[in-house]
Order: sequence, then structure tokens, then C-alpha cells
Amino acid sequence: MLLQGKVALITGAGSGLGRAQAIEYAKEGAKVIVNGLNEERLAETEKLIKDNNGTVLSISADVSKKEDVQMMINKALEEFGTVDICVNNAAILADFKASLDIAEEEWDKIMAVNVKGIYLLTNELLPHMLEKGQGTFINVASIGGTIAGVGDAAYITSKHAVLGYTKQLAFNYAKDGIRAVSLCPGLIDTPMVRYAINEEHPAVVRQIASIPSGHIGSSEDVAQFSAYLASDKAKHINGVELKIDGGQSIG
Ligand SMILES: NC(=O)c1ccc[n+]([C@@H]2O[C@H](COP(=O)([O-])OP(=O)(O)OC[C@H]3O[C@@H](n4cnc5c(N)ncnc54)[C@H](O)[C@@H]3O)[C@@H](O)[C@H]2O)c1
Repeated sequence: MLLQGKVALITGAGSGLGRAQAIEYAKEGAKVIVNGLNEERLAETEKLIKDNNGTVLSISADVSKKEDVQMMINKALEEFGTVDICVNNAAILADFKASLDIAEEEWDKIMAVNVKGIYLLTNELLPHMLEKGQGTFINVASIGGTIAGVGDAAYITSKHAVLGYTKQLAFNYAKDGIRAVSLCPGLIDTPMVRYAINEEHPAVVRQIASIPSGHIGSSEDVAQFSAYLASDKAKHINGVELKIDGGQSIG
């Protein structure tokens, strides 16, 4: 198993890619801490993992709030004694709005969850990882971290920021045993985009048309790739962004 003996924390794990990654990581032998905002949805994720004989702890916390993040890491360390892998997956999207349509509060909220949340969690975990001389961050970005047109103006900006932050993190700490990778999915069938897969959202219809195979990706496709990237088999992959998009971004 790819992640036997590891402890992994996955944010935004009450749905979509976060839930799929939590299930996959547990299948690959990791003990998992699942985080999210909605306790009911987290409980569903927890049950799915336990039904598979996985070990799981769920913690409801807002990744954009420092006190929540501190509470979460304290609980995780108390329960498992360590965190080897952090999957910064939680994020929000403001439909496909252009700049003029995004209010300042909405902009701030997206930046707080999608960018500041990663910084807060990383800084809370780094001292512990540096002490151990190892630690891995899988920062779930998007192909929207490399191109425009696949989200709103704040979301696209935030995902470009995730790529920059991840590079700098690896640049500063790779020598200390830290790996950080930006995982960049294309359009994937999850609650974040499912509501928009119809004619009322031409931006999404256009995205599907731009996938060479014409098929939208699944959460499991991304989860399997993520588990590999988090594993020691990927030990020479650091700082870079890796796309999983069925070729969506090549045309
Ligand atoms: N679905 C896609 O097409 C797609 C494409 C590229 C990238 N992504 C990225 O994948 C990741 C997961 O998205 P998804 O598609 O599974 O969407 P999703 O909406 O199903 O999942 C996001 C999760 O994050 C949680 N969350 C939101 N704010 C939070 C906060 N402040 N603290 C803790 N949890 C919070 C939500 O409750 C939700 O469960 C995101 O980073 C998203 O940007 C998704």
C-alpha cells in the first residue's frame, strides 16, 4: 500500500475531491484526519472510511481562521502523534464571475479560504514536520492556476497564488525534507461544478467541449493521482504543478 504508516490531513473532505482523496488515502493505508465545515457531510465521509476498515478522525474547522486551524492541529497531534501529509484541498468558487461582478467581501472570502487557509495550515504544521525532517503538502490548485476561463476572477487569481506559494515552500524547505506539490485538476464532476453542467452555464459547457476525449474527469481519477503524489514513490517531485485534466488545457 502506497501510504502505509502515514498520517494524512485532508481539508474540505465532506464532499467531492476531498472526500475521494480521504477514502483513497485510507485505502492505501494512511490514518486520515478529515476536515470540513459541515459536520453531517464529514460524518458521511467518516462512515465511508470506517466501512472500509480505515482509521479516521473528523474535525470540523474553518481553514481561514487561525484559531480553528490551531485547534485542528492540536487535536490531530493528540490523536495520532504526527501528521506526515497535508492535503490543502478546501476551496470556494464564485461561479464564473468577471472582476466587475465580484464584490469586495466575496473577493476577500475567496482569498481567505483558497490562499490564506493554505498558509495558516502550512505554518501550523511546518515546525512539527521540520522537527521530524519530513513532510508532504499536496496543494489542490486547478488548471485555473495556469490558465484563465475556468472559474471566476478571484478563484483564478487564488489558484495562481497557490502555485506560487507551493513553489516558494519547496524552494525554502526542500533541503529540510519537505515536499510541496500543486495538484491541478481540470473539470471534475463534483458538487462544486455539478450544478453548472447545463446550457445555462456556457462557460462550463465550453470547458467540457475543450476536453479532447469529451469526458469529464471523476473524483477517483484525481484521488488516485493524489495518493501517488503523496507517497514516497513521488519523492523526487517537488515544487511543481501537475495537471490531471484529460488534456483540457492543451488545446
Ligand atoms: N471540481 C472541479 O472541477 C475542480 C477543478 C479544479 C480544481 N478543483 C479544486 O478541488 C478542490 C475540491 O473541490 P471540489 O470540486 O471537491 O468542490 P467541493 O465544493 O465539493 O469541495 C470543497 C469542500 O471544501 C469545503 N470548504 C469550503 N470552505 C471551507 C473552509 N473555510 N474550511 C474548511 N472547509 C471548507 C466545503 O465544505 C467542501 O466540502 C478545490 O480546491 C477546488 O478548487 C476542483
